[in-house]
Amino acid sequence: MPKINDRISEDKFKLILKVGQAFNSVIEIDRLFALIASTTSKLLEAERCSIYVVDTEQNMLWTRAAQGENRIVVPIGVGIAGVVARSGEYVTVDDAYDDPRFNQEVDKETGYRTKSLIAGPLINNSGEIIGVIQVLNNSKGRFSTDDEQLLRSLSGFAGNALDNALLYDELKKTFHSVLQVLAATIDAKHHYTAGHTARVADYSCGIAREMELHEDELEVLRVAAFLHDYGKIAIRDNVLTKPGKLSEEEYEEMKSHVVKTSEILSKMHFSEGYKEVPLIAGAHHEKYDGSGYPAKLSNGDIPLGARIMAVADVFDALTSDRDYREAMKPHEALELIRKEVGTSFDPEVFAAFENYFNRRYGPPSNP
Ligand SMILES: [Fe+2]
Repeated sequence: MPKINDRISEDKFKLILKVGQAFNSVIEIDRLFALIASTTSKLLEAERCSIYVVDTEQNMLWTRAAQGENRIVVPIGVGIAGVVARSGEYVTVDDAYDDPRFNQEVDKETGYRTKSLIAGPLINNSGEIIGVIQVLNNSKGRFSTDDEQLLRSLSGFAGNALDNALLYDELKKTFHSVLQVLAATIDAKHHYTAGHTARVADYSCGIAREMELHEDELEVLRVAAFLHDYGKIAIRDNVLTKPGKLSEEEYEEMKSHVVKTSEILSKMHFSEGYKEVPLIAGAHHEKYDGSGYPAKLSNGDIPLGARIMAVADVFDALTSDRDYREAMKPHEALELIRKEVGTSFDPEVFAAFENYFNRRYGPPSNP
C-alpha cells in the first residue's frame, strides 16, 4: 500500500488507489497484463511495460511479447528482469545497452530497442516474488527516483492482482481438464465418436471467431461444446453403439440425450459467466426452421451458441466414418450442409462457417 509522503501527493495517492482497484477488478490474466502494462506506461510516461511471471518449476520467467501473442521465456538470473526476479531489488538503468546485465536477446526477438528502463519485483501476499514489472523508455530519456517510487506503489497492487489471476488461471485449467475427462468418457463409448467433442469445440470456436464474438462468449461456447453430448451417458449402450439404422423407439431414446444433457447440467453449478452453458448444450439439435428437437425452437429463439454448435456437430459427424459409409471429404460435407441453410442451419452462422472452412481447408480445388 502506498503511503502519503513527500514524494507522492494526495492526488497521486488517490490515483494510485483507483488504479489498484482497477487492477483487482480484472481476473483474466491476459487482460490484466494489458491493463497493468497500459496504465503503468502512461503513469510513468514510458513507451512500454512488460510483466514477467516467475515459473519456479522451470526456473524461468515468461511474458507475452509486447502487443503480441508470443510468449518470451528468459531464465531467472539472466537479463535485468531475471536479476530482479532473483534479488527482489529494484533496478533503474539509463542506457540498457551500456549495462552488462541487460539481455539484448529479447529486443532481437521483438525488434524493439530498449534505452532506459526500470524494473521491480511483483510480490504476493505471502511475500514471494511471483513476477517482475519492467517499464521501458521514459519519454524524458531516463527514469527518476519519483518514477521508481510510483512504480513501487503500483507494483504492490499489480502483485496482488497477478496472484489472483494466476490462481484463477490454475482453477480454469483444472475446470477444463475435468471437462475434457467428462467428454472423453462419452467419446470413448464408441470408436465413431473418438475425439468428436474436442473437434466440435474447435469448429464451434472457429465459427464464433469469424462472427467476432467476444472471448468470454467463446469460452462459454467451448464449455458447452465439451458437455453437449454428456446426456449420452444415460443412453443404453446397445442403442448408442448399434451398427446400422435405429428403430423408431431406439431413435427416440437416442434423441433424449439432449434432455438428459440439460437435466444433468442443471445440477451442476455454473458461475454467472457460464449460466448459458446448459441452454446452449441442450439446444444443439434444434433446427433453424423449428423442426429440430427437443423444444422445436426456431430462429433467434435458439441460443446463438447452439446454432453455431449445430453446424460444427453435423460437420464433424459427416466427416467421420460410419458403419454404413466412409467419412465424407470436407468439401462434400460443406455442400451438404449448404443445402440445409435456412432449414436446419442459420444463414449467418453458415456464412461464418464457410469463411472458417475456407481458411482451414482452402478452396474446393484443394480438398
Ligand atoms: Fe448430440
